[in-house]
Amino acid sequence: MANRDDVSHPLIAAVYDYVVPDRTLFGPHREYLAADLSGRVLDLGAGTGALFAHVARAGDLEFHAIEPDPHMRTRAREKAREVDLEVDLRSGRGESLPYPDDAFDVVISSLVFCTIDDPDAAVSEVARVLAPGGEFRFFEHVHADGALGTGQDLLNPVWTRVAGGCTLNRRTVDRFVGNDAFDVLEVERLENGPLSVTPFVRGRLRRRREGAFPGR
Ligand SMILES: C[S@@+](CC[C@H](N)C(=O)[O-])C[C@H]1O[C@@H](n2cnc3c(N)ncnc32)[C@H](O)[C@@H]1O
Repeated sequence: MANRDDVSHPLIAAVYDYVVPDRTLFGPHREYLAADLSGRVLDLGAGTGALFAHVARAGDLEFHAIEPDPHMRTRAREKAREVDLEVDLRSGRGESLPYPDDAFDVVISSLVFCTIDDPDAAVSEVARVLAPGGEFRFFEHVHADGALGTGQDLLNPVWTRVAGGCTLNRRTVDRFVGNDAFDVLEVERLENGPLSVTPFVRGRLRRRREGAFPGR
């Protein structure tokens, strides 16, 4: 699928932190993503910077973030100032990351692969910019089984329009764990996660040290 060059959702940027409340429903999962962080870290699709407060509590690290929507980036910059976090925040997309190979020790994706136009290209890019042995940490919503999954499929066309391009019914984690670039460290499926319309999955993968895989 062709990339859109115009990710711009001012209204969603304005309401995001109220609709996706970090202090209650989502905070524990972002805390999981930021646990024991160190080294060079990339927050992929940083949005309003919801992860930043959690990262600010971590130890010594070099923190980078990428976000294509200028309205989200403005809020992310404000968030970084509020929590006193030094961040190299860039405009860019997961499908074409503006970093060299092996640039990061950890790449984090929180609620992003539902929105990326070409998720396969983005997974290859994550593998490319991760150093061998580096970690890909994620928290994503995924396609449900059974009747809920059918309901997601039906709701998806409307959901995508009102939710800034978010796709409700992707099998995102199958895409991650099926990628030859990674070994699975842990994957946890949360059937009763923060929202009842979708299961969530969180986990950690390790970038393999050797092997020929796409993106390398
Ligand atoms: C649901 S928000 C998640 C924000 C944040 N990571 C969080 O945990 O709240 C999804 C973000 O992905 C961004 N996004 C959309 N397309 C993208 C792409 N191709 N590459 C990277 N980020 C993208 C959106 O602009 C939006 O800020």
